[in-house]
Amino acid sequence: MKINKKAAIVILLCSGMFVLQSFKQQQKKHDDDDKFTNLQVLPAATTGKEIHEIMKSFCISLGVHCNYCHVSHEVPGQDRPSMDWASDDKPEKKTAREMMKMTMAINTEHLAKIKAMGDPLEQIRCVTCHMGRTTPIISVDSLPRTPRAANDRH
Ligand code: HEC
Ligand code: HEC
Repeated sequence: MKINKKAAIVILLCSGMFVLQSFKQQQKKHDDDDKFTNLQVLPAATTGKEIHEIMKSFCISLGVHCNYCHVSHEVPGQDRPSMDWASDDKPEKKTAREMMKMTMAINTEHLAKIKAMGDPLEQIRCVTCHMGRTTPIISVDSLPRTPRAANDRH
């Protein structure tokens, strides 16, 4: 069950075009909750449950809360801020969209040439680079220089 969910999220992220087609064929019905107004990368028919799984995976992958990418307004007298999910005012959300397209492109245009994409768990995802941080380690200089065991010479 857990694996299936994970696989679904990866497929949504990595094979958007295929999912788009199968969603159209299924002609799913949605609640009002599932009507999103500003999906530019994910298929328009993505359900609320699916959005939530994907967004949760973004949060865990980058080590952030929803408001890292989404605009929030403090409401006097309310514990929770009010969220404007559809707004594109935060640059992080726009960057995340490019990242989604980049991740799909790496999987479908590049990795697909090296290996058949039979197992979605072998595709790259946000966490592959981000590993719980907003800024991935982009240089070997940032890695700790701990000696490796056994066949290391020094
Ligand atoms: C790393 C950035 C990032 C984080 C963190 C994030 N989101 Fe998103 N969210 C996006 C992007 C990008 C889109 C637009 C996707 C698209 O264009 O297809 C989006 C779209 C949405 C939408 C659809 C809005 C609409 O009407 O179009 C909802 C709802 C949403 N996110 C909820 C959440 C929730 C809940 C969380 C926290 C659990 C969260 N997001 C965390 C980047 C993020
Ligand atoms: C191939 C590696 C790679 C993958 C995969 C990847 N990212 Fe990134 N991401 C980067 C790099 C590199 C940066 C730039 C970091 C910097 O500014 O130094 C970045 C930056 C970002 C930023 C901006 C952070 C900031 O400090 O402003 C966001 C948001 C982000 N990525 C979200 C995502 C999301 C969401 C996914 C999955 C859909 C994703 N990334 C997948 C490499 C990756």
